[in-house]
Amino acid sequence: MGLFLKPRMLSSVENNISKRVFSNQQSIHPNLARISDRHKDLIKYQNPISAESARILKSTQDRVEQSAKPLIMDCGCGTGESAVQLARALPDHTIVAIDKSIHRLNKARKHLLLPENLIFLRADLPEIWLYAYRQKWNIKKQYLLYPNPWPKQEHLMRRWHAHPIMPYLLSSSQNLELRTNWKIYAHEFAWAAQYFLNKEVEVQSWLPETPISNFELKYLQSGHELYRVHIVQND
Ligand SMILES: C[S@@+](CC[C@H](N)C(=O)[O-])C[C@H]1O[C@@H](n2cnc3c(N)ncnc32)[C@H](O)[C@@H]1O
Repeated sequence: MGLFLKPRMLSSVENNISKRVFSNQQSIHPNLARISDRHKDLIKYQNPISAESARILKSTQDRVEQSAKPLIMDCGCGTGESAVQLARALPDHTIVAIDKSIHRLNKARKHLLLPENLIFLRADLPEIWLYAYRQKWNIKKQYLLYPNPWPKQEHLMRRWHAHPIMPYLLSSSQNLELRTNWKIYAHEFAWAAQYFLNKEVEVQSWLPETPISNFELKYLQSGHELYRVHIVQND
C-alpha cells in the first residue's frame, strides 16, 4: 500500500537529527521468556477501566459501528501524519488513531482537510486493548509505529511486549504492524508474539520510499536502520 507523507506535510515536520537508540542491553532481554510466561494467562491482567474511559470508548465504538466500515487502529499516533495517510489511502475503512498526549493530538487535529473516516482518540493504550478484547472489537489491522523503546535494561516491563497487556494486544487483532528503529525491540516483540501466538514471526529490515509518520521521517533523515514486524492472521 503506498502511504506517503505529502510535501506539505513533510515541510511541517521538524528537521531535527535524532540519536540512535543507546542501550545497556546487547540482545534480547534475559528475563523476557520468564515474564512472558507469567503473562500468558489472560485472566491475570484485570485492571479496571474507569467509568469515564468506558464512556469515551463506548462512544468511539458506536461511531465505528455506525460507519459500518472495517476498523484500523493507529496505536500511539503522535502528531497524526500516519493516521491521516491511512485515512486518505483507505476511505472505505475507519481509522481510530490513539495517543495519550493531548499536546500531540492537538497538533494532529490541526492537519488541513482531516478525512471524515478518521477519529482521533485520547486514551491509554492498555485500556483500549483491554476494552477492545472485552467488547470483541473487530479490528482489521493495528499499527504500532515507533513506540517508545524504553532501552534501559531495567525498563523492560515498559516495552509493550513485556507489559501484561501483550496477550490482549495480540488478541484484539492478529493483523499487526510494528515499526521501530531499535533492532532489539523488534526482535523482542517478534519473540513475544511468536511465544503467545505459537507461530513464526519474523523481523524485517524496513526502508520505506517515503516515510509514513513523523518519527519515521526523523529516523530516516538521521540515517537510522528501521525494522518491521508484520503479523498477518491465518484464516
Ligand atoms: C515515539 S512516538 C511515535 C509517534 C508516531 N507513531 C510516529 O511514528 O510519529 C510514541 C507515541 O506513543 C504515545 N504513547 C506512549 N505510551 C502511550 C500510552 N500508554 N497510551 C497512548 N499513547 C501512548 C506517545 O504519547 C507518543 O506520541
